This record gives sequence, structure tokens and C-alpha cells, in this order.
Amino acid sequence: MRGRMWRQCKGLCLANKYVENEILIYKIKRMKKPDYHILLCNSYRIAGEAKGACNKKNAPAIIQYMIEEAADRGLDVTVSSTGCLNVCAQGPVMVIHPNNFWYGAVDETAVDEILDALEEGKAVEKYLIAETEK
Ligand code: FES
Repeated sequence: MRGRMWRQCKGLCLANKYVENEILIYKIKRMKKPDYHILLCNSYRIAGEAKGACNKKNAPAIIQYMIEEAADRGLDVTVSSTGCLNVCAQGPVMVIHPNNFWYGAVDETAVDEILDALEEGKAVEKYLIAETEK
């Protein structure tokens, strides 16, 4: 518990707000990190529109499929769609962290194989577009 000078405000966001001498101090609640963060390129441009190689190669449907498949498997993942990852010719492109696996030509079949391997912490060589070792 904070001292008398502190007054906790009721916030509607993830942060707790405290007021001390008219200065708002935010204490950020830390979230639990997911086991994996999966980035799927959807070719977003700065203006926010999705327009580019991966988007034209069915990325939106693949992203939705990835989200559903990961949930069905009970994997602790966060799936994010991104802007261009600068390997457009190999799209749709996917990156999995913390493993740093870079995959190209991802489709629904690839998603199934990649998630199967991920459940064992492994990569699927045939879709890798970058070295997995430093
Ligand atoms: S548009 Fe996907 S890597 Fe460039």
C-alpha cells in the first residue's frame, strides 16, 4: 500500500493511476508474455491500407487461419499482422519469435506443418527463408 499522499484512481485501461501533488504517475501492470509471437506480413502501408505482395497472396485468410489453428491447439501465441518485412518475393512471410524462424510461401498447409513443429519447438526446413543459427 502506498503512503497517505497517494490516491489510487479508478482507471479504465491496463495502467493503475496514482495522483501525487497533481502529477499523474502510471504504474504499468506487466502482462504475461506469450510463449510465441507470430508476425504475418499483410503488406500494410504507412497510410494503414494493406496493399502489396503478401496481401495479394492471400495473407488475410492465412492470418485468420493461423489464429484459429493456434487457438485450437491451445498454443500460447500472439499473432500480429504487419507491414512489409522486405522479402516480398518470398511472401506470404511469417516470423516466429523468440525462435527467429523466418518462413516464406506460407499457406494453410504450411501453417499446419509449422504449428505441428512449433508444438515441439522445431522449425520446418522446407519453408525457412533465413538461417536459424547465428
Ligand atoms: S509485402 Fe510481405 S514481405 Fe513485403
